[in-house]
Order: sequence, then structure tokens, then C-alpha cells
Amino acid sequence: MTAQDLDQGKTEEFGERMVDVLNDGALALMTSIGHRTGLFDAMAGLSPSTSTEIASAADLNERYVREWLGAMVVGGVVEHDPEGNTYRLPPEHASLLTRDAAPDNFAAFMQYVSVLGSVEDRIVESFKHGGGVPYSAFPRFQEVMAEDSGQTVLPALLDHILPLVPGLTRRLEEGIEVMDVGCGSGRALNLMARAFPNSRFTGYDLSEEGISRGRAEAERNGASNIRFEVKDASKLDEAEGYDLITTFDAIHDQAKPAVVLEGIADALRPDGVYLMQDIAGSSHVHNNLDHPLGPFLYTVSTMHCMTVSLAQNGDGLGAMWGEEKAREMLREAGFDNVEVKHLPHDFQNYYYIATKN
Ligand SMILES: C[S@@+](CC[C@H](N)C(=O)[O-])C[C@H]1O[C@@H](n2cnc3c(N)ncnc32)[C@H](O)[C@@H]1O
Repeated sequence: MTAQDLDQGKTEEFGERMVDVLNDGALALMTSIGHRTGLFDAMAGLSPSTSTEIASAADLNERYVREWLGAMVVGGVVEHDPEGNTYRLPPEHASLLTRDAAPDNFAAFMQYVSVLGSVEDRIVESFKHGGGVPYSAFPRFQEVMAEDSGQTVLPALLDHILPLVPGLTRRLEEGIEVMDVGCGSGRALNLMARAFPNSRFTGYDLSEEGISRGRAEAERNGASNIRFEVKDASKLDEAEGYDLITTFDAIHDQAKPAVVLEGIADALRPDGVYLMQDIAGSSHVHNNLDHPLGPFLYTVSTMHCMTVSLAQNGDGLGAMWGEEKAREMLREAGFDNVEVKHLPHDFQNYYYIATKN
């Protein structure tokens, strides 16, 4: 095919889209910086201000702040008055970019773009030679994941997520044994332990950092009904000890997800329930064309979820393993009943409610 044969309209349209991708990708990095430096939080409390005033309010270097403001202005995030040389973060934008805006703070999620970018060289090597990039190569992963969890799981957990299982809140109030597998920094578990003092909570994760964070929060809360342990989820080996087992975004990136699911089924009492939150999507890419986060999720999968599994010679299921595959694996693990529920606030996750009989 020669250049003359190309559909010119289609080429131009795609070229425009690529320019948008380039600009928006860059803006994602600057938005992450705005979050980490506290610039959005500082600007939300200011009237229109100069770069010097903004830098001073955020306790940052003015030259960097001015350049960042340039990106924010041309990117349509911040408004600029050239006469007074002032900048303003409109309250409508602040309502989606500041820590006070959580759970709607998009700036916190932008951190994933830079976290993933930091391992690009190693991912490229893996494309050539196979294998994967291990968890240890992502220095900020637990920190960003804990922030993500704080926005997506915590605010909905007690009022929306747990009530998806009929009667569960009452059982938690009365007192049951709960385990969270791949608990990360344990934020969900700590919240449940506070809300349900009659129940007992166990959190397992491979990450020393995550478990230390979980323990530190439990100590701060003065909670005596919770324990955290560094443990490999593929070696649970706990027969029928739990009434409720949860996983939040923690199955698809396992090295041996089938073994983990079998261990969870074995660890549940006969009338126990397994609540699995995992990424919303279909196992077939053509069904994900309209997914609001489709490109983002396949990217996170390639550059984190799939690769951390492959780094351990694992299955590399990936974040977009999808509902069809998840149902199949839950059935094979021994869960005869599986219901999949959606929450209106959450287009990133499905909630699988699985019981053995
Ligand atoms: C995507 S993170 C989710 C963390 C947490 N549930 C949350 O929502 O914040 C997945 C977690 O699974 C943990 N993990 C991965 N493989 C594991 C294994 N074999 N045993 C225990 N934890 C594991 C990781 O260390 C990580 O903390």
C-alpha cells in the first residue's frame, strides 16, 4: 500500500488522537507530581495567586512550580490571568484533584503512570526475553496501592461492599473469623476490625512493607482483634477456620492463582463466604472496547500485575483475566455458587460472592 492509497481522513484523525495521547500522557505525570508535592491541595485554598505565592504556600521551589503551572494552564487544569500573572485552580477541578476530594481524587491514581514508567526498561527486556519484573522493582507500589485502596475500598466497604452479602454485617457484628488474603497495607482489614470488635481478623501478604504498615495502623487503633503475618497465599494450609475470606484486587496477580483459590476454599467453613473484589472486565478483549478504563487496565496489567506473576514463573493471568475466566477458576477451586455483583460507584471492580454449597 502506498501513501496515496491511505484514507487521508482516517490518518489525520489518528494523528490528532496521537497528539492527544502525547499531551495527556505528559499531563498525567504532571498531575501525579501535583499530588505528591501537595500543589493541588495548596492551590485549592488560595485565591488567584502568583507562582511565588503558590510556591511559598506549598513550600516548594518557585522555578519548578512555575513550569508545572505552565503545563497545568495549557492542559486546561489551572486558569491563568496574564495581567495579574496569577493562577487559579477552579473549585470544580479541585473537587477531583485534592486529598480532601477523596474518593474522587483522580490525582492519586495518576501516580500509577509514573510508577509503571519507572520499570519500562525492564519491561522491554521482558518483551524480548520473557520472564518478568518482580514486586521489589516497584519501590512505591505499596504506598500508591494503599492510597488507591483508601479511596476505592474504604469509603464503600461498610455501607456498600459488605452488604452485598446478605446477612454478613449482622454476622460480623455478632463475631466471626475473617481472613484477608493479599491484604497489602491492611487498610480494609483495619477498618473492619474497628467496625466489628466482636470479630477476629487475620491479614496475610508476601510484602514485609505492607504487613508492617498494617500492623502499625492496628497499633495506632489500639485494636486487639486483628493480626497480620507475612505469608505466601499459595501456602495457606488452614482447614475450615474462617467464616469470611476476602481478597481485594489480589487474585489476578498471583503466581499460582488456582492454588490460592483452592486454599481459600479449604480455609472456609462449610457455611462460609468468599468475597472477591477483582478487576471488572471480560476475558475477551473485544468485549472490553467500551470499558471506561480499558487502556489503563491493560497497561497496568502488562507493566505490573502480569509481570509480577511471570517474574515468579507464575501464570501471568493479568488484570484483565475477566469475569468468564474468574467464574471458571472459582468453580474449579470448589465454589459451587458464584454471584457477580457491581456497585454503581465502582466501574473498576466486580464483586464475586462465592460459597461452597
Ligand atoms: C494489587 S495488591 C492489593 C493489595 C490490597 N488487597 C489492597 O487492596 O490494597 C496485591 C497484593 O497481593 C500480594 N501478593 C501477591 N502474591 C502474593 C502471595 N503469593 N501471597 C501473599 N500475598 C501476595 C502483593 O504483595 C500485594 O500486596
